[in-house]
Amino acid sequence: MRDWREWYEEYDDPASSLSRRLGDVRRLLGADLDARAASGQSSARLLSLCAGDGRDTIPVLAARPDLDVDACLVELDPVLADAARAAATAAGVEVDVRTADAGAFTSFRDRLMGDVLMLCGIFGNISDTDVQRCVDASRALVGPGGTVIWTRGSRGPDDPADWVRGLFTTAGFEEVAFLAPADATYRVGVCRQAGARSGWAPEWSFSFVR
Ligand SMILES: C[S@@+](CC[C@H](N)C(=O)[O-])C[C@H]1O[C@@H](n2cnc3c(N)ncnc32)[C@H](O)[C@@H]1O
Repeated sequence: MRDWREWYEEYDDPASSLSRRLGDVRRLLGADLDARAASGQSSARLLSLCAGDGRDTIPVLAARPDLDVDACLVELDPVLADAARAAATAAGVEVDVRTADAGAFTSFRDRLMGDVLMLCGIFGNISDTDVQRCVDASRALVGPGGTVIWTRGSRGPDDPADWVRGLFTTAGFEEVAFLAPADATYRVGVCRQAGARSGWAPEWSFSFVR
């Protein structure tokens, strides 16, 4: 398994592509939660897979006491999972951080039909077959009106994020936002579950190949 802790060092540079991506993910998550609070929702359920140290989620939750967010973060690396727990404690936010394999459905099967699913930093690290399977199965992970926030790196002339966008559309999601800064190597997508398939145990599995 790759040592992901080194990967996080790019976040130390506030001008890096990764730091800009982080800002966009936080802003889009905040906007989603704003819309929920504005519509009268008093609580929301969030699931973040391959969550790392939770930096794209925890500060956003800490900034909004108006919405009770029941958040679950799944991260395989025990050091990063512990960092997420420490960050949540420091921020005064209650978060269920699981040191577990997000590629295994059993790690989060009690968290189905939530409001927000974060799939950030995953699609560029797993096979196309796994991406396809995860996008399709995401229909069972968020409830009606549920949101998926996803990212994909993009470095060549053919943008792999366009393929991912098409997969979400085919799976029945409506695109809410798509960010593709011309001077950066990341893409962020937000899409909403149009219909829902409750009670459906999805075929879910992936493993990192990088
Ligand atoms: C590219 S980083 C993204 C982290 C975070 N989502 C972000 O955007 O800052 C990928 C993360 O996935 C974790 N990871 C890799 N395989 C995993 C698995 N099977 N289950 C859970 N986490 C995994 C790594 O340890 C790493 O923290």
